[in-house]
Formats: sequence, C-alpha cells, structure tokens
Amino acid sequence: MSVANSSSETGMTSPLKSFGANVLAMARQLAQWSEATDGLTCTYFSPAHRAVAAQLRAWMEAAGLEVRIDSVGNVVGRYASADASAKTLIVGSHYDTVVNAGLYDGRLGVLTGLVVAEHFVRAGSRLPFHLEVIGFAEEEGVRFSAPYLGSSAIAGCFDKTTLQRRDRGGVTLEAVLKDSGVDATAVAALARPKASLRGYLEVHIEQGPVLLEENLAVGIVTAIDGSSRFRIVIDGVAGHAGTVPMALRHDAAAAAAEIVLAVERRCGEAEDLVGTVGQLAVPNGAINVIPGRCELSLDVRSGVDAIREAAIADILAAIREIAARRGVTATVNEIAHHAAVPCADAMQAAWAQSVARAGIAPFRLPSGAGHDAAMFGGTTDIGMLFVRCGNGGISHSPLETVTVEDADIAARILLDVLVNLA
Ligand code: HGY
Ligand code: MN
Ligand code: MN
Repeated sequence: MSVANSSSETGMTSPLKSFGANVLAMARQLAQWSEATDGLTCTYFSPAHRAVAAQLRAWMEAAGLEVRIDSVGNVVGRYASADASAKTLIVGSHYDTVVNAGLYDGRLGVLTGLVVAEHFVRAGSRLPFHLEVIGFAEEEGVRFSAPYLGSSAIAGCFDKTTLQRRDRGGVTLEAVLKDSGVDATAVAALARPKASLRGYLEVHIEQGPVLLEENLAVGIVTAIDGSSRFRIVIDGVAGHAGTVPMALRHDAAAAAAEIVLAVERRCGEAEDLVGTVGQLAVPNGAINVIPGRCELSLDVRSGVDAIREAAIADILAAIREIAARRGVTATVNEIAHHAAVPCADAMQAAWAQSVARAGIAPFRLPSGAGHDAAMFGGTTDIGMLFVRCGNGGISHSPLETVTVEDADIAARILLDVLVNLA
C-alpha cells in the first residue's frame, strides 16, 4: 500500500502535502504515546517507546523500505542500491525523548530521512549507496543515564559497562534486554564495519537561538561539543531543624547549593564552556529536617576538550574544598564523557552547496547539544544540518517549535545532498 493512500492524518508524504507538512504531522502523531499523563515523555523500552517504534516501522514499510527493529530497539529502514556491493549511507536521529519533551528533538531527523527516502522509492531512483534511515532507540540517556545506546551499538563504540547500569527501579539494562529476548552479547553484533559505511547524516533542530537570530532556516554544524556527565552525592548530618544551631550543622543541601554556584562561576569564566546542574534532590527530605544527603548531577561541555577538562578539574577541586570546610563527604562518579567530534569537511561542503542551491546563505555553527552523529565520528564521515527553532530556540520543552516551511526546506536540502553525494 502506498502511503499516499493512507489517511492524511498519518502525515506520510503525499502529493498534496509538502515534506515539511508530512514531517510535522507525523511528529504530532508520535507524540500521542507518552509515559506521562501530561506532556511527552518517551524513554527506553517503555510501552510508549515500543509503540513509537512500531509506528515508525509501519511508516517505513508503507514508504517501501525494508524495515527491521534491531536488538536494542533501533528502527532501521533500508532502501538498497542497485549495486549490492555498495556502501551504506545512514540518515538518522533518535526517537526517545527527555522528560516533558518537545515534539521535534530527534524525531524531526528520523521523519525527514523517512520522507526523503520515500521520495526516492516512489521515483524508482536507486542510489549508488544503500540508504538507511535509522530511528535510534536511546540518545538522551534518561532511563539508564547512558546516552547514545542505540547509535553507539551501530557505530561499534557501545560501552559494555552500560549493561550493568540500573534504572530508577534498580533494573539493569542487561535484564531489560533479556526480558525482550535479547542476549546482551547481541549488541556488539550490531556494529557496522567502518568499510561498509559511506557516511552518516543527521538533520536536527538547533535547540538554540542562533539561527533565529541570524534569520536563517538552516545551518551547517561544524562540530559537536565534548561533554562530561557526573552524579554527585553529598553526605552530611541530618538533624532537627529547630534544635541544631547553625554553626554546628553539616547541611548536605547547603553544600550542594555552594557547589551549584561554583559550577556556574567557573563555567562563566570561559567562552565555549557550559556547566549545568540539572538534577538536585534531597532524598526523603522533610520541611523540619536538616538535609543529611543531597544528590545532584553535573553536565560540563565545550567544543574544545582541553577547556572542558580544565573546568572539570577546577570544579572537582572546589567540591573537595567545600566538602572539607563544611564537614560533609562528596562522592563524585563520572557517568559519561565524550570528546568533541568535528563534522567532516566533505560533508560540511556538501551541505553548504545544497543550502546555497536552496537560496540560503550557508552558515556554520557548532553544536552545544550532543547528537547520535557524535558516535559515528570515529567510524565514518559525519555531517549535520540544524533547523531553526522558534520560541527563542527553546528545546527539551513542550515549547519546542519548528515551522512547516523550515522543515520542508531541510528535507529538500537533504534530498539535494543525497542526490549530489551520489
Ligand atoms: O544532552 C544533549 O545534549 C542531547 O539532547 N542528548
Ligand atoms: Mn535532546
Ligand atoms: Mn536530540
């Protein structure tokens, strides 16, 4: 069944609708599945997550692609080249989301690849490379605090220790895979040989205000920032909020607050450096109890690894000093780190030529956000195209927004790039 016959609500490409209109309609469709009663939350292997994977598979099949869902949940749609020995060009992004997410982070890229692949299928034009559109299962790392699970498996850089990571319920990734009938050793088998890949392209919302400020629909990504993520636990002394004099306290939350300000101060000292404490909690806290424990996260990023590493060293020193002075203990665990990854010059040039052909001034910018593309940087040539976000560029929020026109321009540029890479 051609997707053209499917109801317009499925949003699949049909002659009556633009690529952009189809992409945004499908993104709205996918948002119907959420773990939350209000807002969009779709994390690894939840029922919502599996429903989205099934819908992507159905759309990819209706578009005429050969489709499979692999052992870690990546949805892979393939449009083979006429040349069986051809390399594979992957167009991908992720379909999992953060908590209370927007509709387009990740999914815009998957759906843009889908509508463009369908265009080639309908036109009957085979490419000199196998085209694979991949919806990666877990980029955000919400459930197991380990980002890029899906893409790292395919890129061949999956970190096996991730299998022992536990979710909030104490269940390991290994057990979750086993429950799905997947032997954890099968993950390594997903890795693509470097020689088999022609390249990796990703279309993604910018998640920032730059393109909006520049009044440009799209931008070409130069590099993906390196990032380090930590979990920090501060242990002080709980006590009665009314009876313990201030000078005798070892307040874990007050120490955490000082740490948050130290992160803000240090990361404000350099260009191309950001630091965020996104999670901060007093477990079992009570209004009349001095916090005995406080748990916080730390996320530090830079386009230059040396800048990031220097900032982390200073922040860890500050944590030690604050803990010693306040008589609390700080346990710091690094849970992920990724070096900065440049986008291949050839891919940047290919994007720039297609952007120019679309009548838009090619504009290059780095990515402060991490992306699945970073996993492929050591395996093949990577390229990313950013799409302008509205509402001041906000993302990781239900306020995330993209216009139909910009989504359409991005799809047509991806189509042009693929034709010209061919
Ligand atoms: O955290 C990030 O940069 C991405 O959204 N996963
Ligand atoms: Mn994200
Ligand atoms: Mn993303």
